[in-house]
Amino acid sequence: MKYATRLLLTILFFSIISFSIMILWVSKAIEHDSFTTIEKQMMEKADLCELSIREILARHDKETTKADPSAVVKDVLSVLKASGSEVRIYDDRLNLLGLAENGIIRYNGTPRIYNENLVNALKGNYAYTVTNQHLIYFAIPIQDKYYQTAYVFEIVEDISYFYDILDTIRTIFIIGAGGFLILITLSGLYIARKTTEPIKYLLSATEKFSRQQFDPVELNRKDELGMLAAGLNLMGMKLNEYIKYQKQFVSNVSHELKTPLAAIRGFSQYLYEGETEEQDLKKISFHLINESDRLTRLINELLILSQFDNATPDLNAGKEDLSELTGCVIHEMKASAEKRGISIKADLTTGVWVNVNKTLMSHAIANILENAIKYSHAEGHISVETYLDSATAVIKISDQGIGIKESELALVQERFYRAGNSNLVSGSGLGLSLCREIVQKFGGQLLIESKLGDGTSVSILLPLA
Ligand SMILES: Nc1ncnc2c1ncn2[C@@H]1O[C@H](COP(=O)(O)OP(=O)(O)OP(=O)(O)O)[C@@H](O)[C@H]1O
Ligand SMILES: [Mg+2]
Repeated sequence: MKYATRLLLTILFFSIISFSIMILWVSKAIEHDSFTTIEKQMMEKADLCELSIREILARHDKETTKADPSAVVKDVLSVLKASGSEVRIYDDRLNLLGLAENGIIRYNGTPRIYNENLVNALKGNYAYTVTNQHLIYFAIPIQDKYYQTAYVFEIVEDISYFYDILDTIRTIFIIGAGGFLILITLSGLYIARKTTEPIKYLLSATEKFSRQQFDPVELNRKDELGMLAAGLNLMGMKLNEYIKYQKQFVSNVSHELKTPLAAIRGFSQYLYEGETEEQDLKKISFHLINESDRLTRLINELLILSQFDNATPDLNAGKEDLSELTGCVIHEMKASAEKRGISIKADLTTGVWVNVNKTLMSHAIANILENAIKYSHAEGHISVETYLDSATAVIKISDQGIGIKESELALVQERFYRAGNSNLVSGSGLGLSLCREIVQKFGGQLLIESKLGDGTSVSILLPLA
């Protein structure tokens, strides 16, 4: 079912339920209130009738020693014949003594008698019954001078006017409710259309996104839908950037793989052609080993990066002494520094413990130290320090090499970015980005300070274990 239809049906459902309850409740309240008024009026009338009949009885008692019932009935009917649309008088054994219908007195006939009503009145109380034809039979007990119920006087009234008023009120309510429902349906349709229009627009935008068309979503609203559009825009922008990045990444990787592969291919061809002297053979083998190492390193770094791109990479962190970790890396790289006459001065504070994966952190430190060696002038000096700075463990590697331009300091931490100064030295531009990701994975950060021509110092800041 469409959202607009569901919205409309929900509004209509609740409106109908509310209107039905309201109409029922109001008509019951009016019925109850009005009936109480009718009851009160009938009682007032009954009081007056009782008074008149008592006067008639008193007069008869005075005139004769024993009041003559037929004379009493005659007098009562002639005085009270117009008190209701029908009045009746019964004796204490509930025999009908006479009645007056529309003001005309009759002493015979078999009208409908509600015995229960009369029996209740005989007990000395007012009693009434309302028939299905909307007639009220109101019975009034009349007592003689000995306070015995001698007669029952009954007034019959047509109260259908009251039910007619009730019906009119109900009809007005139902027509009003119908009008309201029509209004609600129309406004519901309007609201549903107004709500679904932007939703449809957003839906079409997401469909375009799925076809990689990231046109901006323009929905000028300040409500939740406007926020959703802004969210979609942001998502589209990020997705676009990500897709571009992925494409660039694949092309960079292919390029970086191509160079050593082409070199390996060239040297292999040279070997194949077979006219190689002993001296060249050694050189070729050296290059082949070099290029294969470069390939292996690149692939290893790509594997680490792809592992980091997973939502939950397996880090296997453990408590390590930073000075020990750095010492090992310096020991491994000392030979390659010495080849270029570069000295490494180490100042390592022991007992600075960090929570890291030993292999990954060694890889990061080695990358920075390798850069310091690669980008230093021959016979240069490198200093490596590990120390505790308040609650942070620090490894700082400083060189006096070629340095990095200030505008490129942030860029060199991006994947595959190589600064303009690095043309003469081989590399893929992955090292620092990998370092930064490794350090961040263990809650730390990478700081690079450099001055072109003066040297660079790279610091790894890590939380203590
Ligand atoms: N110590 C440094 N001195 C001067 N420039 C540096 C130094 N370290 C990094 N750079 C610059 O930053 C760039 C990025 O360094 P990164 O280590 O990421 O890549 P790379 O050394 O070129 O290649 P890779 O490390 O992948 O073999 C380098 O190409 C270089 O221009
Ligand atoms: Mg490097």
